[in-house]
Amino acid sequence: MREPGTAPSLERWRSLESRGVRVDFPFFLAPMVGLSHVALRMTARGYLPRDAKTLLFTEMLSSRRLPAERMGDRPETASEPEETNLVPQLLGNEERFIAASLVKLEAMHPAAVDINMGCPVTQALKHNWGVALMGDPAYAEDVVRTTVRLSPWPVSVKLRTGLDDDLEYLLDFCRMLESAGAAWITLHPRIARQQRRGSANWDYIGRVRDAVGIPVIGNGDVQTSEDALALVRRTGCDGVMIGRAAVARPWIFWQIGEALGLPPPAGQERHASPADGYAEGSEFHRAFERFVDLAEPRFPARDARKRVNFFVHWGARWLDFGHELWRQVSSASNMAETRARARTFFTKPQRMTARTVLRS
Ligand SMILES: Cc1cc2nc3c(=O)[nH]c(=O)nc-3n(C[C@H](O)[C@H](O)[C@H](O)COP(=O)(O)O)c2cc1C
Repeated sequence: MREPGTAPSLERWRSLESRGVRVDFPFFLAPMVGLSHVALRMTARGYLPRDAKTLLFTEMLSSRRLPAERMGDRPETASEPEETNLVPQLLGNEERFIAASLVKLEAMHPAAVDINMGCPVTQALKHNWGVALMGDPAYAEDVVRTTVRLSPWPVSVKLRTGLDDDLEYLLDFCRMLESAGAAWITLHPRIARQQRRGSANWDYIGRVRDAVGIPVIGNGDVQTSEDALALVRRTGCDGVMIGRAAVARPWIFWQIGEALGLPPPAGQERHASPADGYAEGSEFHRAFERFVDLAEPRFPARDARKRVNFFVHWGARWLDFGHELWRQVSSASNMAETRARARTFFTKPQRMTARTVLRS
């Protein structure tokens, strides 16, 4: 039996309880375009320790687009009534769009709203959205204060190291976010130009945590449950956000819970979490089936297949023959064929590696 790991401190989260944010398992599925929709969120939710309270983020939602939309019409805005701890993420900067977007988000009954200050794509930089906001602290402060004033829910911010690698600037920026009313911060410690290349500088997560009094969630390059707990140990962060690896192994939440001595997910009482490469390979197939079951009835056929292909594109990287699975699935002509091809692929035991080289 392994020694239980160290859980993040819940102390800073407690002060948010009176505002409706209840977190006792601070391990979070990251916002990811094309991935963090209701089907992946529900897949991940099924792997949470029983009764665990966490937050689930949507992918970034454009504040220019939301006001004209009907919620639930696109996979990006669909949600389920049982998704009680949702945190939709907004991309934007202008008050009138933010105000109108917040009205739309009521349909999701969010626990909080997150502001994207990390997106590094050219389009975001051009419009002064995403990480571009980190280049102009006064403007970023204005965006946070405005959102806090307009939002019925707590407002958090997800950011990067910044446009440049300047720790003092980052610390000042985070102190500014706190004084502008941010309820918590998620830090992905890479600079904008890195996109997702190189490695995340976890040391900055600890430095930011020391500089502010609100919860700080660390993010970047967590591939296994051991990595997640190592990030907590090394930085003292109040939570860990997992992106790419949570697509590949959404049961990472079960593995983390198990390492912390928490109960298994509902329905898994008789099982231990997948513990080796082949057990993870078979679990990938189960998670894939579950994901397809969730996506198929909720999204229009074309959208569902696109999302399934994208899930495999990102998730299968940890499988020894993941590229072959992706080739098979992405060339299928309908969902029945997608399922059949995956079934054939998994008739042979498949191995997942604990860590892979993440180049994008
Ligand atoms: C396909 C993809 C889409 C992403 N979209 C978003 C997004 O919408 N909002 C956001 O804040 N970060 C986004 N990210 C960044 C992740 O949330 C996360 O910060 C990054 O992947 C590092 O974490 P990881 O190493 O655990 O993947 C995206 C990442 C990927 C791979």
